[in-house]
Amino acid sequence: MSVKKVLHAMAVMVLVLGLAGAAFGAPIVIKFSHVVAEDTPKGQMANKFRDLVKERLGGKVVVEVYPNSQLFDDDKVMSAMLLGDVQLGAPALSKFEKYTKKLQIFDLPFLFKDMTAVDAFQSGPKGQELLNSMKGVGILGLGYIHNGLKQLGSSKPLRVPADAKGLKFRIMTSDVLAAQFEALQAVPLKKPFSEVFTLLQTRAIDGQENTWSNMYTQKMHEVQPYITESNHGLLDYMLVTTVEFWEGLPKDIKPELEKCLKDATAYGNKVSADKEVGDRKLIKDSGRTQIIELTPAERQQWVEAMKPVWKKFEGEIGKDMIDAAVAANK
Ligand code: SIN
Repeated sequence: MSVKKVLHAMAVMVLVLGLAGAAFGAPIVIKFSHVVAEDTPKGQMANKFRDLVKERLGGKVVVEVYPNSQLFDDDKVMSAMLLGDVQLGAPALSKFEKYTKKLQIFDLPFLFKDMTAVDAFQSGPKGQELLNSMKGVGILGLGYIHNGLKQLGSSKPLRVPADAKGLKFRIMTSDVLAAQFEALQAVPLKKPFSEVFTLLQTRAIDGQENTWSNMYTQKMHEVQPYITESNHGLLDYMLVTTVEFWEGLPKDIKPELEKCLKDATAYGNKVSADKEVGDRKLIKDSGRTQIIELTPAERQQWVEAMKPVWKKFEGEIGKDMIDAAVAANK
């Protein structure tokens, strides 16, 4: 029997034992693994989901949340899920490249003008279609969770694209993000989230891109003296499970579980909107990092420098998909 078949058989066994346990009165255990701190939009969403499930489905379902890469880094969580070791995850949209090229759309630089446009696209027909883009490999998207727009952190002030030339930037595992930094003649390095603080601290990298809340909760502002407020890209998540697990859930449990997810997501998205403002302020007030605000003309230079990335990935993503995202800005 091939390794793939053995792994699949093991996953089915774990699932059958779990759901059979439920039939005999043992609660279904849902392990939710993620890499960020608890006081982040995703961390808060996950904890709210755990608490709502306890309140509404106590005794039937138990959610265990593992934050801070305690259980798995994002490069391992999907295979762990397919093996039945975790049931829920929410990696950043940039981290699904191995499973589908379609989600690369979310990494195109300067695609969405704000989070309202992101909401419009994600809740529209194309955004909903993308939730099913990994079904062929057994992964189901249950929804999107916001974190927010990314900023550029660096060891030197970045005002115009030429300032980034030759600098090393940590990126998530995305070829689009690699192309984005290559378009600036910078050097992208794909590294796990859990390593970013140390990479900055030891100067192994010159910069990175992330949201206000991820930078604040990882204390990146203490080891990177400049943040350019570029809002150049999106860092959102797809909440994922396996088709096998989700479709195997008892009929009396699934609708309530879906409702818990919906309510927890709405809560997490409110936290994200608050933190885009609040964590920016905390970073500014810390005095450890200078926040660089771009003039419209400076910002336009970044837009133009990164624009070739769109054409490069249009074939894999689909022009219809990109057009729908652009239309969401109106
Ligand atoms: C996350 O927000 O889950 C991590 C993002 C990153 O890897 O930069």
